[in-house]
Amino acid sequence: TLPRVYVTRQIPPEGLKILRESGQVQFELWDSDDPVPRQELLQRVKGVDGLLCVLTEKIDAELLDAAGPNLKVLSTMSVGFDHLSLEELKKRGIRIGYTPEVLTDAVAELTVAVLLATSRRLIEATDEAKTGGWGTWRTLWLCGYELANSTVGILGLGRIGVAIAERLAPFKVKKFIYTDMEPRPELASAINAEYVSLDELAKQSDFLAVCCALTPETKEICNKELFSKMKNTSIFINTSRGGVVNQEDLYEALSTGQIAGAGLDVTVPEPLPTNHPLFTLKNCVILPHIASASYTTRNAMSALAANNLLRGLRGEPMIKELKL
Ligand code: GLV
Ligand code: GLV
Repeated sequence: TLPRVYVTRQIPPEGLKILRESGQVQFELWDSDDPVPRQELLQRVKGVDGLLCVLTEKIDAELLDAAGPNLKVLSTMSVGFDHLSLEELKKRGIRIGYTPEVLTDAVAELTVAVLLATSRRLIEATDEAKTGGWGTWRTLWLCGYELANSTVGILGLGRIGVAIAERLAPFKVKKFIYTDMEPRPELASAINAEYVSLDELAKQSDFLAVCCALTPETKEICNKELFSKMKNTSIFINTSRGGVVNQEDLYEALSTGQIAGAGLDVTVPEPLPTNHPLFTLKNCVILPHIASASYTTRNAMSALAANNLLRGLRGEPMIKELKL
């Protein structure tokens, strides 16, 4: 009999087509655009051999116990893996597929978009235009900050950070700097970026873009201490995970003018409640976690997640496997 697989969401068509046409799995789908309720999920995973999930599902001991010992392959349709209890997966010998690289272009593109929306105050500006604030042309009205001649800092230099820098360079950025657990000379040389301490990154950056994974080491790494070292003309951008930021400290930094603005594609929690204080700030642009949301990329992620799953179930190397 074919391996049984549970797919926790209506994933984009390319991945579903691959699963269907493979003839290699018997799969059940939570056929909805909304997350599967936890209790339902715990029921549905009983006895499965493989699981294809998205980032809204917590894959922890409770879930893995509910699935039972048949579960050998987990495939997440995401580059992030902070929703997975890696230790629990490792303990059970479950292999993990994920979707790096296919989303790099889309995420870098959106990061540039939210950066410019924040630095040039685009959301505020369209609101003013629509709601009668556009009285006349004024000399310093809605002024923002330029990328030209700026220093751009990247916190966590991976493929995405490099792709962001490549896109920003034509805006005449003067200098790229980055920090990470250790220097990454091969990646850095492609964008001529200098390795600095977190301290120096905060002090020197006119634009600080966070591109690291959320791990115990990076949890709330962007906090009061970091914001207090930044210039009051600096723009903070986060398209990685909300958990890397202490949001109370960010609110404080934005509302007191400690930093000039923030553009966030990710928050804690998601969705951010509509009455959250950050939504009251004109200098904070908040997007609902859409960095990889292009049709091309979401389909590529879906296809990669499906192929990782099938290969894993066949006992072959996955296309993109997270090695623990
Ligand atoms: C999106 O946030 C992802 O991890 O793919
Ligand atoms: C993921 O971590 C990436 O940088 O592509």
